[in-house]
Amino acid sequence: MNAMRARLRLLRMLGVFGVLVALGVGCSSSQTPKLEPLKLGDGRTVAAETLERGRDVYAYYCMSCHGERGDGQGPAAVGMRPPPRSFRQGLFKFGGVAAGELPTDAALKRTVRRGLHGTPMLSWDVPEADAEAVVQYLKTFSPRWQQEAPGQPLEVPADPWKGREAEAVERGKAVYHVAGKGHAGCSGCHISYLPKPELEALTEQVTGRKVDLSKADPYTQLARDSDYAVAVDDKGEPSQMAKVLPPDFLMHRLRTVWPTDERVEGAEYTLEQQREDLYRVIAGGVGGAAMPTWKGAIPDENLWALAHYVQTLVNQRDTREGRALKQRLLNPAK
Ligand code: HEC
Ligand code: HEC
Repeated sequence: MNAMRARLRLLRMLGVFGVLVALGVGCSSSQTPKLEPLKLGDGRTVAAETLERGRDVYAYYCMSCHGERGDGQGPAAVGMRPPPRSFRQGLFKFGGVAAGELPTDAALKRTVRRGLHGTPMLSWDVPEADAEAVVQYLKTFSPRWQQEAPGQPLEVPADPWKGREAEAVERGKAVYHVAGKGHAGCSGCHISYLPKPELEALTEQVTGRKVDLSKADPYTQLARDSDYAVAVDDKGEPSQMAKVLPPDFLMHRLRTVWPTDERVEGAEYTLEQQREDLYRVIAGGVGGAAMPTWKGAIPDENLWALAHYVQTLVNQRDTREGRALKQRLLNPAK
């Protein structure tokens, strides 16, 4: 019995259940293989019925992209950019925790409910029990879930800049463009949104050091290595890794932040929610993708200030103002 259970666990780790399903082993639900309860690294056990329900939800809504084996290689995934997540890596970008840790159930459900803006990962308006079940089922694809507990959920504290928004934007601008002294220097990876003379002056003001940017190009970002596979071998193991471009907030859509004229989870999306979502993703970072966790690395009021400042950029995307700013940066007046 124990050996049998161990084998089942091994099979599950290898994702062979998906293959069995794919081969049509058990076309009707009465014949689909039974699943064993899943013992998670945080001490919880997921009941077999929950996993079986999750498997049905997965087959119906998710498998075409994320694949029978959970490797992100479903039939609809061919050539898809970004590629669907491989759940076999046990790696997630928007986990509601410090980047790199296992996500919370709440964050996974948020992704299912909201989707990832601007990607083929759409929002799924499924009943709570189905969302819960599919999220638990995802955990069968990677052994990491049996070995580790999810990270500490990142809290979103109250915005300390209420009523002082203009001041927050100014602080955020400095925190974004200058590194050191509680400042983050985000523009080291993302681009700068200030003309060079302003950038030089701001750097000197914050650090007391003179800088000469005449030969620098602060307006082009470089693609960064990531831990995510774009291709896998026939065992489902990564064979080629994706590069990710830090977004230009005036040009690219963000995955976890929506424009305020869109509805999110069926409701209006306010400026406050947008700012909170920015805080959440900046604080947590993007798991496996070069965007570090900032919570704890800089003072919280500077984190909030960044949310205010980046929000002003995000909301200039696709506007005349935004295009004019871009023009000014790329072709400074002679
Ligand atoms: C049409 C294709 C498609 C379908 C169907 C789909 N997804 Fe996705 N999913 C994606 C893509 C593409 C990404 C990666 C987006 C990115 O990296 O920005 C993704 C990413 C994810 C992530 C990763 C989030 C993170 O923090 O890294 C989760 C979890 C997820 N999908 C769950 C699901 C579930 C559950 C379903 C079914 C209810 C589903 N997806 C259906 C395409 C799809
Ligand atoms: C070491 C390089 C690096 C630094 C430093 C960095 N980022 Fe990022 N950032 C990235 C990359 C790469 C991505 C794209 C990740 C992806 O697409 O998977 C990203 C994505 C983002 C996103 C988009 C999240 C979404 O929902 O799609 C935001 C917002 C962001 N960064 C803000 C910031 C801010 C603010 C700072 C400074 C506190 C910062 N970043 C510092 C590399 C960096």
